[in-house]
Amino acid sequence: SPASLVDGFGRRIDYLRISVTDRCDLRCRYCMAEKMTFLPRKDVLTLEEIAIMADRFIARGVRKIRLTGGEPLVRRDFGDLAHRIGRHLSTGALDELTLTTNGTRLAEHTDMLVRAGIRRINVSLDSLDPDIYRHITRGGDLAGTLAAMDVARRAGLAIKINAVALRGLNDQGFLDMLRWCDAQGHDLTLIETMPLGAIDEDRSDRYLPLSKAVEQIEQAHPLAPLPYRSGGPARYFQPQGMGIRLGLITPLSNNFCAGCNRMRLTCEGKIFMCLGHEDHIDLKAAFREGGADAIDALLDRALIRKPLAHEFAISDGQTGGQTQRHMSVTGG
Ligand code: GTP
Ligand code: 5AD
Ligand code: SF4
Repeated sequence: SPASLVDGFGRRIDYLRISVTDRCDLRCRYCMAEKMTFLPRKDVLTLEEIAIMADRFIARGVRKIRLTGGEPLVRRDFGDLAHRIGRHLSTGALDELTLTTNGTRLAEHTDMLVRAGIRRINVSLDSLDPDIYRHITRGGDLAGTLAAMDVARRAGLAIKINAVALRGLNDQGFLDMLRWCDAQGHDLTLIETMPLGAIDEDRSDRYLPLSKAVEQIEQAHPLAPLPYRSGGPARYFQPQGMGIRLGLITPLSNNFCAGCNRMRLTCEGKIFMCLGHEDHIDLKAAFREGGADAIDALLDRALIRKPLAHEFAISDGQTGGQTQRHMSVTGG
């Protein structure tokens, strides 16, 4: 069988993140500009193309696939795609298929997700205050999202909450959020805002190192480090007196690149070897010309070009290493 994916620094790539669409029904301020130009349909991979590319990655040793976006559930054929990739779970070729979603459409999609073999999802929820939520998402309805999440929870899907820490926006709410998560049985992950793509404000003004973001939490619930790893970049802690885990994703204040196990496939069919570099490989062009056989050689080229670390930087409160791409194109 073909060789597994080990990069030039000896890191094994067993986690593929696929952005299935750059579109979204929300416009979170740290993620998107108010007016976004989305990709024309012909530039976006078809379901069949994504499935074939995923097959090749799995044949090369990928054990975990995360479907992301944009908002994956706005893509019309998402259910068919999830089923198609989910077949690898029953053969044992894949350990986990999961998704990162904003949650707004979970109610109508829960059954489909469960049938596809998805057991655990990450939901982006940056505030439990309806006004702050509406402000950050530019119009999102918190009650609707919470009701949709409840459908997923009652169907047995494990949920991890993702909250991006934003100075002056949601930074007073993390202790309440942790308590709510504990009551619901959801793990919580806090994330430092990353300089991806132009938005309508200066991200440096919103950047909050997580050491600051957790101060309030630590006073009420001291944090003990846990050996647990989810396969993603978070470092986990046990908040004293709680049954849930708190994950911290600190690309700026304490990066985790040495243990990187991921590559990304964008909705345009490009492989990005690192979220924080513009370097990429156009798998779609090669595939549309040369078919599935063209993919393996490009995976090997991607491995050789995978950099040691991202170029996001922070000094004197200013963030650097800004990319042109938005997170929604690359899929986090
Ligand atoms: P788990 O499987 O639950 O560990 O999920 P995950 O953290 O891998 O995925 P999720 O989609 O929930 O991403 C959470 C945050 O981590 C997002 O802001 C991602 O952009 C970020 N993230 C994931 N992988 C990387 C990475 O390799 N580098 C950087 N800088 N950020 C990453
Ligand atoms: N920095 C950090 N996290 C981001 N996300 C979206 N844009 C950014 C950014 N610029 C988060 C979303 C979602 C996850 C995939 O990435 O909130 O939880
Ligand atoms: Fe949509 Fe997620 Fe970006 Fe918010 S962070 S605009 S929910 S893709």
